Amino acid sequence: MGNRNEDKRIAVLASGGDSPGMNAALRAAVRAALWEHYQVFGIQNGYEGLLLNDIRELTSRDMGLIINQGGTVLGTARSAQFQTREGLQKAAAILNEHRIDALCVVGGDGSFRGLMALSEFYKGQVVGIPGTIDNDIPGTEYTIGFDTAVQTAVEAIDKLRDTALSHGRIFFVEVMGRKSGQIALSVALASGAEDVLIPEERPDIEAVVTRLTKGRDRGKRFAIVVVAEGATLDAAHPVESPAFQLAEIIGKQIGQHIRVSVLGHIQRGGRPTSFDRVWGSRTGDAAIRFIKQGLTG
Ligand code: F6P
Repeated sequence: MGNRNEDKRIAVLASGGDSPGMNAALRAAVRAALWEHYQVFGIQNGYEGLLLNDIRELTSRDMGLIINQGGTVLGTARSAQFQTREGLQKAAAILNEHRIDALCVVGGDGSFRGLMALSEFYKGQVVGIPGTIDNDIPGTEYTIGFDTAVQTAVEAIDKLRDTALSHGRIFFVEVMGRKSGQIALSVALASGAEDVLIPEERPDIEAVVTRLTKGRDRGKRFAIVVVAEGATLDAAHPVESPAFQLAEIIGKQIGQHIRVSVLGHIQRGGRPTSFDRVWGSRTGDAAIRFIKQGLTG
């Protein structure tokens, strides 16, 4: 006797900035869906790939040997076309053409908004798996990749502190997070930084100057200040790299040249920590359970 689930067709994709542990989530979602005897399809390169009809059927083997890999085996993209009404309509038409009953997306806040916008035109189920190093999706306390990104930045700062201490230097270390200070706060706490600047608060130059000067007066030979990439002085005119701008202003005021280190996309790569692998696996599996329960949105 055939299993009636065989008629159900699920598509998965990764969207937006990649994050370590996305592969664990995709692997778990695909395998949990196959366990339910669903037919599973992978969409390459996010919503951009969906618009290009880049869809293929996935087997369990396609998800082999990826739980320990950073990035995403399905590729990812930021799609401008998908953000238009025409793009959303086209995406819905392609999903319908393939008779996809449910779309499961691992990504960040933008990807979630895209998924909700799509559901105006696409009447299948839509389920999101929170995956972004930023840890800034409302309604969930954790997003896949955050732990790995923080760990990567902390390891880099541990190295920078060695040279900062040897030379008696001050370093401003810029971490990711254009709109969210979550990474910066955790990195600063975990690395014992002297100060931290985040997008949610306008940088208080005077406070940083006082802290650095007092530290120096107490005989402290070095300092590390963690700066989120969105910690800008003028929110209306964000600069490419606020750490350089702040280092220059603050350096002048304290009379000491401040070194800057921008960690950038290094934080998005690398092998996921065990925490991100476990969280990715659990949320990937949960997405399929939600689909099985008939939930959407
Ligand atoms: O959303 C994840 C993130 O890494 C942010 O921290 C960062 O601001 C942004 O993506 C960078 O985006 P892109 O890789 O497109 O430059």
